[in-house]
Amino acid sequence: MITTRVAELLKTAGNGQAVEVRGWVRTRRGNKQVAFIAVNDGSIIHNIQVVADMEKFSEDSIKKVTTGACISVKGKLVPSQGQGQSVEIQADEIHVLGEADETFPLQKKGHSMEFLREIAHLRPRTNTFGAVFRIRHHMAFAVHKYFNDRGFYYLHTPIITGSDAEGAGEMFQVTTLDLHNLPKNPDGSINHKEDFFGKATNLTVSGQLEGELGAMALGLIYTFGPTFRAENSNTPRHLAEFWMIEPEMAFYDIKDNMDLAEDFLKYLVRYALDTCKDDLEFLNSMYDKGLIARLQSVVDQPFERLTYTKAVELLETCGQKFEFPVSWGTDLQKEHENYLVEHFKRPVILTDYPMTIKAFYMKQNDDGKTVRAMDILFPWIGEIIGGSQREERYEKLIQRVRDMKIPEHEISWYIDTRKFGTCEHAGFGLGFERLILFITGMTNIRDVIPFPRTPKNAEF
Ligand code: 4AD
Ligand code: MG
Repeated sequence: MITTRVAELLKTAGNGQAVEVRGWVRTRRGNKQVAFIAVNDGSIIHNIQVVADMEKFSEDSIKKVTTGACISVKGKLVPSQGQGQSVEIQADEIHVLGEADETFPLQKKGHSMEFLREIAHLRPRTNTFGAVFRIRHHMAFAVHKYFNDRGFYYLHTPIITGSDAEGAGEMFQVTTLDLHNLPKNPDGSINHKEDFFGKATNLTVSGQLEGELGAMALGLIYTFGPTFRAENSNTPRHLAEFWMIEPEMAFYDIKDNMDLAEDFLKYLVRYALDTCKDDLEFLNSMYDKGLIARLQSVVDQPFERLTYTKAVELLETCGQKFEFPVSWGTDLQKEHENYLVEHFKRPVILTDYPMTIKAFYMKQNDDGKTVRAMDILFPWIGEIIGGSQREERYEKLIQRVRDMKIPEHEISWYIDTRKFGTCEHAGFGLGFERLILFITGMTNIRDVIPFPRTPKNAEF
């Protein structure tokens, strides 16, 4: 039988009606006369209080109602006598569905995030991770809603691919070859013809290239799927497996691209403020008293837009000592990005980066040095979005492919779009976990995805 969820019960007026809930015990306290049991079923951050009159229950039957146990309760919903909740359940029957003994690791006390990461199979049962994963769900839903409402089509791009979209060479290989007995070509190289796909394949680092093919037919598309990067970055902002949202738009230039990205981010933050109030208030009170104000400020202000060249000038002349020196042509480091965001006190969109530090597919500017890239930098997070207008001119693109020594035959299908009905287009990628980091105020990206994959860590 499906029972009422706590989120529903807490919205209901208690007038003695019969109800039944099932959930997990957070705490049990009380005395010889009465037991108070806080039950959470994950539907909402709040618990429902179950009051057990000990005249009706034997001490033995209540003994197993321990922190972590799963119980079902039948009783009456009544106005609460105590503080902190409007209704509570006066229990008639309590059944322990699944016991949890004293070795259950989440006994009532504060746990460090590091410890909770080690028990990622149980941490969703804490208030914090319940809040984070509910917010994560609402954000995923909001992504689909945003694009669907604007006529974008959700395109499922492949997870296994033969290409390296970003050209960074940080790919996990996919193979069914026996690693202990690899088939070799006469020259000693591995014979991938014998592999499952008859060629070398890897997990995708981005759905963009295939996304562009979709945009050249459906006009406006987006992808939303897992992406994989074997970069050895042990930072609080990098995962080896993360989710990315990549819209791709025919007939958009870089300005249209920036406008969409800014509107999209503001929509998502506003959606969180409107939809995830209870969870955000909890996180705000527990971890980060500035969280809600910071979210609000992103919604309220226009993002600052400036070129990479202007940003570098500013960094060079600001008088700040940086650990990594900055000069035109170098990739910006975290500290530089932080400085810019703090300087303007708002998100910053940087455009027109040096061609040499960006991917091959970006549209070249007439200066011969820069490309129409755009990165969006957020407070604390740094880069949250990376995107660009795409090089739609066949000659320019093929030249770049050759200069960068990208195997042409591997992406001939991509280059084909520039031969058959090419047009101006643009797109970007939003790192979903970086968004969730920003929205929740968590400080480590490992704490906003249920089961993080990072170097030397693929537990669960
Ligand atoms: O800047 P990136 O590498 O851009 C692309 O992949 C483009 N193909 C996107 C496009 O134009 N369609 O990655 C996009 C975003 C970054 O801004 C960041 O938010 C996130 O993906 N990201 C990561 N998030 C977590 N862990 C990692 N290792 C990440 N690498 C990138
Ligand atoms: Mg990037």
